[in-house]
Amino acid sequence: MLHDPNRVYVFDTTLRDGEQVPGCQLTTPEKIDIARELEALGVDIIEAGFPVSSPGDFLSVVEISKAVKEPVVCALTRANKTDIDVAVESLKYAKRPRIHTGIGSSDQHIKHKFNSTREEILERAVEAVKYAKKSVEDVEFYAEDAGRADVAYLAQMVEAVIAAGATVVNIPDTNGYCLPDQYGSKIKYLKENVKNIDKAIISVHCHNDLGLATANSIAGLQNGARQIEGTINGIGERAGNTSIEEVVMILKTHAVLGLHTNVNSKNFFEMSRMISSQMRMPVQPNKAIVGSNAFAHSSGIHQDGFLKNRENYEIIRPEDVGFPSASIVLTARSGRHALKFHLERLGHKLDKDELYEAYKRFLTLADAKLDINDEDLQTLMAHRLVKN
Ligand code: KIV
Ligand code: ZN
Repeated sequence: MLHDPNRVYVFDTTLRDGEQVPGCQLTTPEKIDIARELEALGVDIIEAGFPVSSPGDFLSVVEISKAVKEPVVCALTRANKTDIDVAVESLKYAKRPRIHTGIGSSDQHIKHKFNSTREEILERAVEAVKYAKKSVEDVEFYAEDAGRADVAYLAQMVEAVIAAGATVVNIPDTNGYCLPDQYGSKIKYLKENVKNIDKAIISVHCHNDLGLATANSIAGLQNGARQIEGTINGIGERAGNTSIEEVVMILKTHAVLGLHTNVNSKNFFEMSRMISSQMRMPVQPNKAIVGSNAFAHSSGIHQDGFLKNRENYEIIRPEDVGFPSASIVLTARSGRHALKFHLERLGHKLDKDELYEAYKRFLTLADAKLDINDEDLQTLMAHRLVKN
């Protein structure tokens, strides 16, 4: 496939890996709404489901295929004919269908999940890709648990599935096991040792068991991968998947990497809140990029620096990710500059002595009440008026 060498394709699996999370299940109409928003966000591929797993998932893939035009619609399968047949059927309305088939690649999976051998698994991988390829041109192969797989065997598997027709080779760190340099080296090894690697795109699919999913994905991209798989808010099995919003903003913030996506980052905040409410999964306040505190400055030293020049404490502009605005949160740790900023915003111009007095009253109030809002500030100033 010909493509811009610096373009990173974004593969969203919120509706598949994300939706596997207990309590996050969605109805088909909810999935269609989300798929339309993902299309507006500009993701390149939507993994719409695992059609053989249930009639509901099958229907969702059918309906999402009808609902979106631009993104590739992808359906997950195991490496067997029934799964692939069902997936092909579910994708019949997709303008750009993709089958995502695969099998375990680590000795752990080969021996203790499949009770098999490396040779037999390799054969099944190739057969699955060849079979899928008879119905769909775009076939992505996943080498499950590649993070723990022997790299020479992984390279052999990748080479064989590309020869069988795979257009994308997904190297999942299924258990979130790798360190960034280990994962990056694995991708580099594939780039350097798989002789037909230029015929496919390498994809990174990382889980967050050790909190390294984003770091590992970036390491993969730095070593030649050009597709990143993840979810909105990082939801997914166990500790979750790579957060798409984090990877996209890392690539934007570190332009020196020379990589770019097609994603419209201004939609992130809205997208995040939609996923959170539909999937009943709150976003932790300190979540990078989309958490409610991601642009909230609360300590006096930071507030003072931020008010002098926002870039002192802001590496991403909130508007670039659709965040309503940066906020200066008033707590007992806030300084006089922050109080002055908020009082002026509410129309109260104070001289130095007045501010000094107001700040004393503010600290008493803030110690008693953890969160100070506009109403509290008005009360604070009403007190001053009565006194005057
Ligand atoms: O984590 C994983 O290995 C997966 C595959 C099914 C792609 O989700
Ligand atoms: Zn996964």
